[in-house]
This record gives sequence, structure tokens and C-alpha cells, in this order.
Amino acid sequence: MSLFITLEGTEGSGKSSAMEIVYKRLIDEGYSLVKTREPGGTPISEQIRNVILDKGNTAMDGRTEALLYAASRRQHLVEKIWPSLKEGKLVFCDRYLDSSLAYQGFARGLGIEEVLNINLFATENTFPDLTLLFNLDPKIGLERISKDNGREVNRLDLEKLSFHQKVHQGYLLLAKRYPERIKVIDASLPLEQVAEITYQIIKEKIKQNGHE
Ligand code: TMP
Repeated sequence: MSLFITLEGTEGSGKSSAMEIVYKRLIDEGYSLVKTREPGGTPISEQIRNVILDKGNTAMDGRTEALLYAASRRQHLVEKIWPSLKEGKLVFCDRYLDSSLAYQGFARGLGIEEVLNINLFATENTFPDLTLLFNLDPKIGLERISKDNGREVNRLDLEKLSFHQKVHQGYLLLAKRYPERIKVIDASLPLEQVAEITYQIIKEKIKQNGHE
């Protein structure tokens, strides 16, 4: 009775805003859902998040970064995601393993297979049932976030446009590799429309799993 759904996309793709609308709708319909995020979601994982995203940590090595994300992910699974799935909840996680594959594996150049391997160890092969990829030209995404004064700016936000373009390319490769799991959503559409498409994909998955 449980489903593990992850949200992915480059910076400013609007995934969090679209999902806020969808969560409200699902809660109104009576679904029991848990929303969480990575890196973070539990006190230990949030501490790891602070180390990873600290703007002062300019000397952080790429593999260190990948291992910290994987460590944070593991702790989050153990403390929050696995127990919630056991209770039969719909678990929504803002970013998960595909972020590591796109950012560290592809954009940082560590290798998708290498980063996948450490993540298979960290997650004991736990893949999401469904991944929603909010697809947007990173240039537009970065322009969007530069206008949002309330948003926290982290170490990865400070990377150049070319890095974010590589992340985007990495995500599209992953969508080709896992077409059954990763559904690509056109995030350049107006927010209400993006939310509606997202909602329909999720409802379809819920139906397929016999949860209605
Ligand atoms: P966010 O919470 O604002 O999305 O910030 C998290 C940042 O960390 C974002 O730039 C994406 C990046 N990230 C990775 O590079 N690898 C990962 O595995 C995850 C989960 C996030």
C-alpha cells in the first residue's frame, strides 16, 4: 500500500511549488502522505546537509561530496523513508539518488556508474517507484531563482551555468535509461498546468498499484 515518489530537476525548475499544490489536493482526498527532502529530512542528515552546502567549503573534493550525499541519503532512508513506507504511506522526497547521478556522476564527471555503485551500497538498492523530472532549461531556472530573494543560496547554486547545463543533460540521460520510472514533465508551462500534469501522473501510478 506504499509508494515512494521522488522529485528531480535543476535549480529553479519549480518542482517544490508544483508539488505544494499537488500535496494539498492529495491530502484533501484523504491520502496519508509524508513529504521530505534531500539532503536532509532527519537531524543527522540535516547536519550532513549543512557541511555539504556550506558556501565556505570551497575545498570540498568531488568524491567527498558524493559520499556525503550518499551518507545523508542512507540515514534518511533508515530513519524516515523505510519506516513511512512500512506504515503504508505515500512518501514524496524532494531529490534522491538521481540528483547524485546527475550532479556528481555526470556534471562533476565522477561517472554515473561509479556514483550509482556507492548509492546502491548506501540504499541497499532502494529505487523510487516513480520519479518526476521537472524539465526546464537551466538558464530560465537560474533567472527564476535570482528573482526569489527569500531563497537560501547554497554552494551548488554558485556553480556556473555550464555546470547546471551538464546536470540537465545528465537528467535527460537518466530519463532515457529508466523510462518506466522517470516521467519527464515540461516545467516551462504555467505553474497550474505543471501541477495538473504532475497530479495526473501520480494518480495514474496510484491506480496502477491498486491503491484506489
Ligand atoms: P536544494 O535542497 O535547494 O535542492 O539543494 C540541494 C542542492 O544539492 C542542489 O543544488 C542539488 C544538490 N544535490 C546534489 O548535488 N546531489 C544530491 O545527491 C542531492 C540530493 C542534491
